[in-house]
Amino acid sequence: MAQSERTWHRKDLIGIEDLSRDEIELILDTAHQFLAVSQRESGIKKVPLLTGRLVVNWFYEPSTRTRSSFELAAKRLSADSMNIAASVSSLVKGETLHDTLANIEAMHSDIVILRHSHAGAARILAERHPSHIINAGDGRHEHPTQALLDAFTMREYFRRIRNNPEATLDGLRVAIVGDITHSRVARSNIWCLTKLGASVVLCGPRTLMPPKIEQMGAEVTHSLTEAMDGADVIYSLRMQLERQKACLFPSLREYIRLFRIDRRSLRNARPDALIMHPGPINRDVELSADVADGPYSVILEQVTNGVAIRMAIMHLLVNGGGAGKEA
Ligand code: CP
Repeated sequence: MAQSERTWHRKDLIGIEDLSRDEIELILDTAHQFLAVSQRESGIKKVPLLTGRLVVNWFYEPSTRTRSSFELAAKRLSADSMNIAASVSSLVKGETLHDTLANIEAMHSDIVILRHSHAGAARILAERHPSHIINAGDGRHEHPTQALLDAFTMREYFRRIRNNPEATLDGLRVAIVGDITHSRVARSNIWCLTKLGASVVLCGPRTLMPPKIEQMGAEVTHSLTEAMDGADVIYSLRMQLERQKACLFPSLREYIRLFRIDRRSLRNARPDALIMHPGPINRDVELSADVADGPYSVILEQVTNGVAIRMAIMHLLVNGGGAGKEA
C-alpha cells in the first residue's frame, strides 16, 4: 500500500502492547521519510506539518535523550514547544495531574508528552483529556518511543548492510541483557520486536528477571554465553540503580563478571553482532567503553533516529498520516 493511503486512527500513543504490526510499520515508514528532513545538507531542516500547534514536554523524571528529541522533533515539524519541569511547577504545591493538565489544555495544547514514575499515568490522562498524549516512559511499564526508535535503527541498519530496502526484522534474533525487572525499555522492546517477527532472548541475573516474563513471548536465560549464541543484535540495558530498593545482586563486580558486554564476553557472539543501548550508559558496568564506541555500536544512531521517530508519531497523531509530499 502506498504511504499516502495508510492512515493512523489513534488519539494517543501509550504503549506498544496496544499496537498492531501494521501500525508499528506505518510509524517506521513515516520516520524513514522524516530522516531525510534532518539530513538536509542545505536548506531548512523543517517541514510545516504542525505549524501553529502546541507541543508540551512534561517530565517528572530526569531525561536527556527523550526530552530533547521530542523538543527538536516538534521544532522540525514547525510546532511551538513548551517544557514543564515537575520540580518547579505547582505540582509541588499539591496540584493533581488532572488539574495540571486541564490548565495546560486551557492554553490550547495539542500534544502532551508525559514521563512519570507511575505505571499507567499516561493512560489515565489520555482517557480523560482531549490532548494527544504520548507516553515518554511510565514507571516500569512501557517506553514506546524508545522501542520504536530501536526497531527503526535495526531495520535501517539491516536494510543498509543487506542492500535490501524492503528487509524486515522477521527472523532476527535479539538478545536483551541486564536488569529486565526494572526496565520499561525491555517491555516495550519485547512487544515491538516480537510483533515485527524477531525472536527475543532475555538475559540477566535471576533477581533481575521478573517471574513469568516468558509469557510475553521471549526466551529467558541466565547465561550470557547462551544469550549471545547466534544473536544478530545485543541490546544492553542500563543498570537502574536508582530503582533498586534491595540489593539484588552480590556486588557490582559480580554483575560485571557475569553479564557485562565486553571484548571477552563477545568472544561467544557473532563477530558482526550489532551493539545497542538506550542510554544513559553506565560505562564499564553493563557495557565496556571500547564496545560502546566500537565499529558495531549504533548507540548514537539510535539517538539520531529518535528524532525521526518522534516526528513521525506527532505527525500521525495530529494529521493521521500522508507525510508524503511535504516530508
Ligand atoms: N533512553 C532514554 O529514555 O534516555 P533519557 O532518560 O535520557 O530520556
